[in-house]
Parts: sequence; structure tokens; C-alpha cells
Amino acid sequence: MKPRAVADGVLWVGSIDWDRQLFDELIPLPDGTSYNAYLVSGSEKTALIDTVDPTKTGELCEFLDAAEVTRLDYVVASHAEQDHSGSIPYILGRYPDVMVVCTPKAKGMLIDLLDVPEERILTVADGETLSLGDLTLEFIHAAWVHWPETMLTYLRERRILFPCDLFGSHLATSELFVSDPAKVYRSAKRYYAEIMMPFRTNIVKHLERLSSYDIDMIAPSHGPLYDNPQFIMDAYREWVSGPPANKVVIPYVSMHGSTQALVDRLISSLADRGVAAVPYRLSSDDIGRLAMELVDAATIVLGTPTVLLGAHPLVAYAAVLANALRPKAQFASVVGSYGWGGKAVDQLLSLVPNLKVEVLDPVIVKGFPRKSDLENVDSLASRIADKHRDSNLV
Ligand code: FEO
Repeated sequence: MKPRAVADGVLWVGSIDWDRQLFDELIPLPDGTSYNAYLVSGSEKTALIDTVDPTKTGELCEFLDAAEVTRLDYVVASHAEQDHSGSIPYILGRYPDVMVVCTPKAKGMLIDLLDVPEERILTVADGETLSLGDLTLEFIHAAWVHWPETMLTYLRERRILFPCDLFGSHLATSELFVSDPAKVYRSAKRYYAEIMMPFRTNIVKHLERLSSYDIDMIAPSHGPLYDNPQFIMDAYREWVSGPPANKVVIPYVSMHGSTQALVDRLISSLADRGVAAVPYRLSSDDIGRLAMELVDAATIVLGTPTVLLGAHPLVAYAAVLANALRPKAQFASVVGSYGWGGKAVDQLLSLVPNLKVEVLDPVIVKGFPRKSDLENVDSLASRIADKHRDSNLV
């Protein structure tokens, strides 16, 4: 593959990782990913915006050879995480005069993580610009999107925003720009759910700030580029600020059928009351789908059997994950079963202090649920439907 033209003076020189299946050894990547790097050539100076995952340095090297880049003045480090910064040491070795451009916060992180020599780092203030001759890079500090050192870059003359991880998608595709909006929407939502959702209050502020910029294109560090930026900006506004949906997500495990019977009854009872239910079988499903459902679910109901007097470990894991992702859910409950005793409910609720939810009375049964137990599930469904209606979610 050759370097790909993004705009006049801007080339994509990244890497498509078709085979990567996990990120951070945690997040499933069903569609692979890409590490986008961009070469911006002005009339006087040249800058590389981000690099690639260190496993893909060879591809970046081939692109720089193909583009005949004999001199590089700057490498912009938008974010210190290694999937974008990992090839900076190679770039520093290849171009003896190149300077790393980053926020003051990123400086220490690049030294800590990659041993970048301090004298090769040029820090920039929020709003500072860097002239490449006829092109101008403007830097926008964006702390906690999703690390504290993150920076966005705006190429003024081309009206291109390089937001690094923000607006990205884990989607390997040979198409440079979005061609299938529905597919990219799902990948971007999954990405938002897994990476960005914990920072949504900060993202609200950054979206507000970006509204003052004229942006014709968004060129993220993962996934295809947006030549219709409104598409992804609108999606983000909905995800970070929109009201939750009239929906209940039910992450659950059932070992011998009791919790399954409770979950089945809850699904049908919610449906009878006009509330969408999304069951999520923790023993076989992928956590990315759970994260996506958490983006807009108004209620979370954990379903658990009792294992060694506590919740099933997979349900505890889901609770820890939900707590870390800080979704906008307003209500929560638990359904489950036990054989001779246990403290599954107390344990699960203790794992979700970050969730700002009203806890609705759980339904915990001994053994297989009887008629009265299922009626209690109906009551829980009624309470959920009432709460959603009172919150104007219906
Ligand atoms: Fe794509 Fe936070 O790195």
C-alpha cells in the first residue's frame, strides 16, 4: 500500500491491524483496528501527527520511505499510549533533528513510558500554534480524553481535526473514509463505550469547545476518517448528553436454570410493560456488546446465582466493569438464586459506588423460582416501568 492522500499536503501513513483481537488484553476487537498516523507537509516544515503501535513500526518506515521523507521537523504526540506513541523512539533515531511536540503533561509520560530524551521534547500550551510555512497546526489540550495528557491538533488551512482517540473506532478497513455509516456508527459506539464513556462529562466540555471551530474533516487515530464530521459529532452528543433509553440491560449468569428462569420472566414482563430488555449472557457474550448496551440503558439488572456464598465471579466482573465505565443508568437491581445462603446482593452493590443509581428491591430466591417468586419479578418489572415513565423515558 502507498501513502494515501487525505488532503492537499496531508498523507495517511498509518497501519491497518486486521488481526488484532484484543486491546489492553481486555477489550475484544471483532473488527480489528488501525493506528492512523498523518504526515503534514507545509512549504517550510513537515510534521508527523502520531506514530503507530510499535509492532507496526516497519509499515510506518515503508510509508516514510515511499513518501521520500528525508527530513522531519516535528512528531506530534497527541497521546502517550503506546499504540500511537510507540514508534516515536524509531522516529527519533531516523530523523536526528526531529522534535516531539506534546503537552507538558505528556512530556513526563513519554519520558517514563518510552525513555524519550527530554531535550528532544517541545511542549506546547493550549491554543499554541506551530507554523509549517503555508500550513498551521493549532493545539487543543483535551485532558482526560481519555488520559490526562491528551491533545487534539487542528490544521487550520485544511480545516482538519486530528483528535487522536476521540471519535475513533476499532475498525480495520481498507477504505480511508467512512463509506458505510451504519457499520462505522456501531464500531464508534463500541469504541466510545469501552474507552470514552467514563469521561463523558469532560467530553461534553470538549464538544462545546470544538463547536467554535470550522471542521471539514475529522481524522482520528483509529478507524476510517470522517469527511462528514457532523455524523460522528452528533453521535457523540447523543451518547454523552442524551437521556437514557427506555431500556434495561441484564448481564447475568445461570448455572442450573434458576437465574435463567428469573431473567426470562423479567424480559417478558418488561416487554409486556413496554420496556425494552437486553439480556447479556456473561459466560459466552463479549464484553464490548455489554459496554455498548450500557451507553444508553436506563436500568441495569444483574442476574446471579450464588457461588461460595457470593455472586458468580463473572457477574462480579460485570459489576466492576460497569462501575469503571460509569454509564448514565439511573436505576439498578439484582435478581438471583441461592441454595443455602449468601450475600450476593450486598457484594454486588458494594462493587458499584460510581453508579449514581436508585436501587430497586432485588428478587432473590431459594432454589428454583416458584409462582410467588415470578410474581415478585413482575413487581420489579412494574417498578422499573413506573420509574422510566416518571423519568419521561417512555
Ligand atoms: Fe488508541 Fe488511548 O490509545
